[in-house]
Amino acid sequence: MQLLVNIDHIATLRNARGEGYPDPVEAATICEQAGAAGIVFHLRGDRRHIRDEDVKNLKNSVNGILDFEMAATNEMIEICLHTDPDLVTLVPEGREELTTEGGLNMETVFDDFQDRVIPAFRGTGITTSLFLDPNLKDIDLAHEVGADAIELHTGTYANADTKEEQNHELQRLVKAAERIHEKGMRVNAGHGLNLENLPLLIDNVPHLADVSIGHALISKAVYWGLEKTVKEYLKIMSGKS
Ligand code: PXP
Repeated sequence: MQLLVNIDHIATLRNARGEGYPDPVEAATICEQAGAAGIVFHLRGDRRHIRDEDVKNLKNSVNGILDFEMAATNEMIEICLHTDPDLVTLVPEGREELTTEGGLNMETVFDDFQDRVIPAFRGTGITTSLFLDPNLKDIDLAHEVGADAIELHTGTYANADTKEEQNHELQRLVKAAERIHEKGMRVNAGHGLNLENLPLLIDNVPHLADVSIGHALISKAVYWGLEKTVKEYLKIMSGKS
């Protein structure tokens, strides 16, 4: 299992004052040096955190996996193909949302993903990952359109108010991960993960390949520093915590 660190909120902090710091590229380097397998950024249509020049600079500096998270607009597809990351994670995007609020509704986007989106990446070497809620129907449709990987939305699990609700969500994630694996796709996961809820997830959900973690990790790094924080996550992931 690999840790991919989402560095969007380094850019949020930078943009709050219009200065050149903190620099997402420098943060990415520290995360990689601490052992993270890769870096995730979400280039949003409104450029609220990561900007186009960050994408270029990250492409030039990240040595591990570069995961380009984006909405499947023609503008983003063009930038992504030009950037040539290792992985593209396709998400729904709403202008008013504070963060990605759920997975793609595959029934709604099926034709568009089959005809326009997935073919745009075919033959490029970029792995396509679709961000989905843990619904078996969505997973089957994602397989039909030709996705290489699924990133399971763990937000409902992470935000569960009760143990029962958390367990219910965990079981949905387990079944979803099994189905993704059966279909021959890679199983990724992300959203809302932190040092408290990650252990239960990784002890139970099978076949996890990449976990994508941003807000909680960057927030903890304000107190601990990025290097120590990344290492704490890696300790949990290697079962040594
Ligand atoms: N995966 C996806 C698809 C996301 O949209 C986000 C949020 O940008 C994350 C993972 C990381 O979520 P968090 O910031 O809550 O760790």
